[in-house]
Order: sequence, then C-alpha cells, then structure tokens
Amino acid sequence: MSDSYDDIFEKNRKWASIKKIEDPEFFTNLAKQQNPEFLFIGCSDSRVPANTLTSTNPGEMFVHRNIANVVANTDMNVMTVIQYAVQELKVKHIVVCGHYGCGGVQAAMKKQSLGLLDKWLKNIRDVYRIHREELANIKKFKDKFDRLVELNVEEQCINVIKTNFVLDSYSENGYPKVHGWVYDISNGTLKDLKLDFPKILENLKEIYHLSDNILAKK
Ligand code: CO
Repeated sequence: MSDSYDDIFEKNRKWASIKKIEDPEFFTNLAKQQNPEFLFIGCSDSRVPANTLTSTNPGEMFVHRNIANVVANTDMNVMTVIQYAVQELKVKHIVVCGHYGCGGVQAAMKKQSLGLLDKWLKNIRDVYRIHREELANIKKFKDKFDRLVELNVEEQCINVIKTNFVLDSYSENGYPKVHGWVYDISNGTLKDLKLDFPKILENLKEIYHLSDNILAKK
C-alpha cells in the first residue's frame, strides 16, 4: 500500500518535469491566473477524470464532482461552484457529465439502505419519478439503467439552467451554454446528449417565471 502512495510523488515529479520541458512557461503562466472556458460537473467515480477523458490541461476546466453528478438546488457546494464559474471565471460552457455504469444511479434503483447516501440518492429517485412512464416501458435492467443515467444528466442540466447565475449571464451575454454528456467507461468515449437548450428554457419559462429577455438570446 505504501508503494502506491510513494509512487504518486515520483510520478508527480516526472509529470511536472515533462510539462516544463514541453513548455517552460507552463507553470509560471498557470500560476498567474486561471481562465477556463468549461465548468465540468461530473461523478466522483475514479474512472471519470475530467481532464484525462477530455485530454485537457490544468487551467482548461473548472471541475466539480460528486456521487452521480447531482446538481441539487440546496447544495451550497455545487451552487457556489456554479456561481464562481459563471460570475468570476465567465465560463462559456457548463457540462454535466454522467457515465454509464454509475454506481450512484444503480444504487438509487435498488431497495437498500445506505445511510446518509440514501438522502443524496433521493435526487436520482426524483429523476426516476419524473420519468417513471418512460422507464417502466424499458424491460431490460441494463437498458433502463443506461437510460436513467442519461435522464439524470438531463435533469441535472435543467437544475444548472434554472440557477439565477446561469439565467442572468445567459440573458446578458449569451453564455454559458449548458451541455449534457455521458461517458462510456467501457470504451472511453463521450456522447453529447445534444440537449435543446432554447427549448428547455422555453419549457422552464412558465413554471419558473423567467423573463422574456432570457429567451431573446436563443
Ligand atoms: Co458514477
């Protein structure tokens, strides 16, 4: 166990020196400021590392991860991340990235008690409830599981879109755009769910009492 712990520092030294050889100014430039265009909201799963799977460097993605990539309106953690990303970093894109085979989503589909995690997974069970009809028509567990992963991404995107920070910035600047992705851990590929951002805004408008100028930017 201590071997893999020590390995981390050895690998870090190698990585830092390679980066410096590739670009001698890499760390000095990064130390001055960060200017990421993306906020990535993903799952904590160790197989879904934001920078690795998008082949991006430090400085290119602002990242928030939690179990099953949930964006709960009452979660101070994710809300402050979104606020900072939108208002200070002025990110152009916000991505909610789920992944097939997500343990959090799978746990939410089962009858079992997981302590504190139960409360968190209620966010996923809410998604199940909203899309109950569609899911009830899917017979195979694997297909249902995959679909719930996608629907969860979609619902969490909606939670991002309806934050005041996102709505205000979007109506003023035309960004950030919100995207739903699903990562396939079995082959390393990303799928864009191609959510219809203007249509989602249109649907939210009546229920959440959004002003007309938000839709003017579409
Ligand atoms: Co997961």
